[in-house]
Amino acid sequence: MINKQVQIITNFLDETRALGEKTGKHLDPGTVLALTGDLGSGKTTFVQGLAKGLDVPDNYYITSPTYTLINEYPGRYHLFHVDLYRIENYADFDDIGLYEILRSDGIIAIEWADKLPKNLLLEYLAIHIDILNNESRKISIAAHGLREKTWD
Ligand SMILES: Nc1ncnc2c1ncn2[C@@H]1O[C@H](COP(=O)(O)OP(=O)(O)O)[C@@H](O)[C@H]1O
Ligand SMILES: [Mg+2]
Repeated sequence: MINKQVQIITNFLDETRALGEKTGKHLDPGTVLALTGDLGSGKTTFVQGLAKGLDVPDNYYITSPTYTLINEYPGRYHLFHVDLYRIENYADFDDIGLYEILRSDGIIAIEWADKLPKNLLLEYLAIHIDILNNESRKISIAAHGLREKTWD
């Protein structure tokens, strides 16, 4: 059962993907997921699972949208996958259409969300991944400003 805040240890890439998948099955349209954690911590891996949980067809392979910054996938809800790693300044958010998609009713997964202006997101799921060792990750999920919800 996941409530307001939860921490989960995953010991393999597949477990992180499975957690993403489970999360994807329970999201309401318009939910923003703010992903943080070092390079190689597993943010993209989590989003791959998320896509599965959102019924994005298997022929789409989810990788970090490093050059395009935003990728879009069809699914039960539209999935926007954003990677802000290379973003230089706030003006760029407008250029890439970030503000527009934040008003959409898709699911918006944002890697390097700590680069967003403070207080831009009012309601979001914060997902932080810590690298414990080669294969283990600590994944902390917290709901900010979201209606309380119970998952099984
Ligand atoms: N428990 C785990 N969860 C997620 N990734 C893991 C795990 N253990 C090892 N890895 C490896 O860590 C890397 C995560 O990469 P990626 O998901 O692209 O990270 P990020 O998007 O945060 O930079 C992959 O090479 C993956 O194989
Ligand atoms: Mg990534």
